[in-house]
Amino acid sequence: MNFNAPRGTHDLIEKDAENLRYLETLCRKIFEKWNYSEICFPTFEDAGLFTRSIGESTDIIEKEMYVFEDRKGRKLALRPEGTASTVRALLEHSLMQKMPAAKLFYMGPMFRYERPQAGRYREFYQAGAEYFGNSEPPADAEIIIAASEILKSAGLKKIDTRLNSLGCKACRPAFRQELKNYFSSKEGLCEDCSNRLEKNPLRVLDCKIDGPRFTDLPQMEKFLCPECKKHFDGVKELLEKSGCGYTVDHKLVRGLDYYTKTIFEIRGSAEGAQDALCAGGRYDNLVEELGGSPTPAVGFALGSERVIAAAQKENAVWNASRPLKVFVAVSGESLLKEAFVFAAGLRRSNLAEPVKLAICAGAPEICVEGPVASRSLKSQLKLADKFGADKTIIFGEDEYKRGAVVLRDMKTQEQKEIKIV
Ligand code: HAM
Repeated sequence: MNFNAPRGTHDLIEKDAENLRYLETLCRKIFEKWNYSEICFPTFEDAGLFTRSIGESTDIIEKEMYVFEDRKGRKLALRPEGTASTVRALLEHSLMQKMPAAKLFYMGPMFRYERPQAGRYREFYQAGAEYFGNSEPPADAEIIIAASEILKSAGLKKIDTRLNSLGCKACRPAFRQELKNYFSSKEGLCEDCSNRLEKNPLRVLDCKIDGPRFTDLPQMEKFLCPECKKHFDGVKELLEKSGCGYTVDHKLVRGLDYYTKTIFEIRGSAEGAQDALCAGGRYDNLVEELGGSPTPAVGFALGSERVIAAAQKENAVWNASRPLKVFVAVSGESLLKEAFVFAAGLRRSNLAEPVKLAICAGAPEICVEGPVASRSLKSQLKLADKFGADKTIIFGEDEYKRGAVVLRDMKTQEQKEIKIV
């Protein structure tokens, strides 16, 4: 029987795995520069955590969550995103009391039962950051600028940052009502929109079918209460003064219900790029809704596969520092043990300084392969080529008697003897 990876999942092998690691290292560096510390939370949680946080009438909860019962009948779900888990951990470990500012970042796989297509997977990687305890515009601006700094550092020259405000509990209901009235008078809404008009009229705005059909839509910005308007203006001003470009997009809404005030999305503007590379916003009520004391919060997450694909489309050069690759070969089997011990010493950096210097020439990282037994020297050198060796060390009987081995530069084919004892 043959097994394949489940639909909508993918293996990351060689270059793809390297790219993910490169992007995650880049995110980690930028998050740490902005003083975020890492949190690792479980890949599954109580399903109710996500239902309560993300909202029952969202696509994620209605159609996309992987829910299962464990052997004791607990209803669990694979995490579809990281915000709910971060808030759960914040409350469970009373992090607001322990940290001067709770600024956390995470990275790892998320799971959504979506229809797979380019850039849309059922298991995908996110890197995200959440900032708790600051209700002021600088926190929103910090999150948006950090997100765009990651994308720019990943080599994306063309990014399109969309911004909107969804207001708060005080001002949003009037806008929702206005949208309901507006769409109720329109003929021929698609099936999804007709169904969600009652529960979630905002989602009609970003419907791929109905969204673009209407040009004179009501705009949330006109409904913002004085506090939300001041906040939105404050965020815009900080972005402008920091040189972070954006466009206000009145149709921008989010697929998760926890947002208040600022929301944003960053898209790549390379050809064909419509999907968001990263998205987020403010969610001032969620901590309280999950049982904590009122705590303002703002955050974002980026989709790693999408960022990697966008960087490739823009021909961004990602120069991950590559280790010096050294292959250890044996001519004949009599020196196999000596070669093994030498290779292990080289990996652990246990050799005498002049020997290390002759082989590694100051390279900060090395990767050592071999020795492999029972192969002719010729086939070992072929293996060294496949491995991509920069240098090959050959243990030969004559040289070893003189306390030496042969060091071969795989690029220039030059060989020289080096003393190892
Ligand atoms: P989201 O918009 O659902 O927000 O996801 C964030 C990013 O994850 C998207 O912009 C996209 O790049 C990527 N993504 C989402 N679904 C998929 C998929 N099926 N395949 C590939 N990539 C995908 C959130 O998850 C929020 N938790 C963000 C946030 C953090 N808001 C506040 N804090």
